[in-house]
Amino acid sequence: MLAPAHIPVLVEETIQALAVQPGGRYIDCTLGGGGHAAAILERSSPGGQLLGIDADPEAIRIASEKLEAYSSSVLLTNDNFVNLQAICYKHDFLPVHGILFDLGLSSLQLNGNGRGFSFQREAPLDMRLNPDQTLTAADIVNTYSETALAHIIKEYGEEGYSRRIARRIVQERPIENTLQLARTVERVIGRSRGKIHPATRTFQALRIEVNQELEHLKLALGQAVNLLGFEGRLVVISYHSLEDRLVKRFMKRESKDCICPPGTPTCICGHTASLRLIRKRVITPSPEEIQTNPRCRSARLRVAERIINQDEHYRIVERLCSSAEVRANGWRRPTLLKKLRQAFLAA
Ligand SMILES: C[S@@+](CC[C@H](N)C(=O)[O-])C[C@H]1O[C@@H](n2cnc3c(N)ncnc32)[C@H](O)[C@@H]1O
Repeated sequence: MLAPAHIPVLVEETIQALAVQPGGRYIDCTLGGGGHAAAILERSSPGGQLLGIDADPEAIRIASEKLEAYSSSVLLTNDNFVNLQAICYKHDFLPVHGILFDLGLSSLQLNGNGRGFSFQREAPLDMRLNPDQTLTAADIVNTYSETALAHIIKEYGEEGYSRRIARRIVQERPIENTLQLARTVERVIGRSRGKIHPATRTFQALRIEVNQELEHLKLALGQAVNLLGFEGRLVVISYHSLEDRLVKRFMKRESKDCICPPGTPTCICGHTASLRLIRKRVITPSPEEIQTNPRCRSARLRVAERIINQDEHYRIVERLCSSAEVRANGWRRPTLLKKLRQAFLAA
């Protein structure tokens, strides 16, 4: 049976947050089924361009079929977004007007046979986004020490029973498949009605460890800021508190001019803001969207805009001010900012 198509989450909110405009240049770092990418392409037409990235070759294959109508405006690459900067330089795709991360897994991966992401169907313990990677969930479950397993399950699953689960896993090794692991966890925690499945947190922890999800996200966010042009937008949709906390802290830190510890008499960090928070609070799906797509219920969208810090701003203005054209026309700061925007759009 074919897996149901992935339903993209918060589509209109994403388009608004990215401030998609005709002729804009965008990066979708998590292409998945191509739902967000199609919406971006539609709204950036005519002249819009999209670079789509996914670590999963199957996602690239499916999305390239979906985006066939836009083939002249799309560049798709099977890669990990941890290489975002290198990918953009390689394809000369910068600066950009917006970058989207829609984290986690698509329904195609969760429901797909043999990927091992779901505790609801039997499959080998795999969980790799990219099948060329060597480390699988089975390697972790069957070879990591009890202490290392407990640490991962606690840190990446925020699981209160991490030590007991790790001990049980070690006792029951070898654990070959998803259902066997789910039953092992269930034997430790039991099953309370109405709550999430007892293996949810353990599966999340293993997936994060297999794909180094938090580490890669942290590195990619740092690269994304440097690829955004003037007033370019960074939009991240996350699905669990670890990701969302990381994104929230990153955006908060990058929107500050000083990150010295509180009480430091004078600034010694030299940090300058590179982002401006568009909204301090997260955007979440409406009850109507949750009703039609229950999987989106934990989605949290955050958005920030690239700002040019004072030094960068002076450098650009100085450059513009020195030109004969600016002096001859007597352009002042608002006009220069407008020119800056136009220059970026034309880039
Ligand atoms: C929630 S889905 C995206 C769905 C997509 N926005 C859509 O509209 O169909 C997340 C996708 O991100 C991909 N992904 C997750 N982590 C990644 C990483 N570090 N590098 C590249 N792709 C990644 C997954 O393979 C998956 O296809």
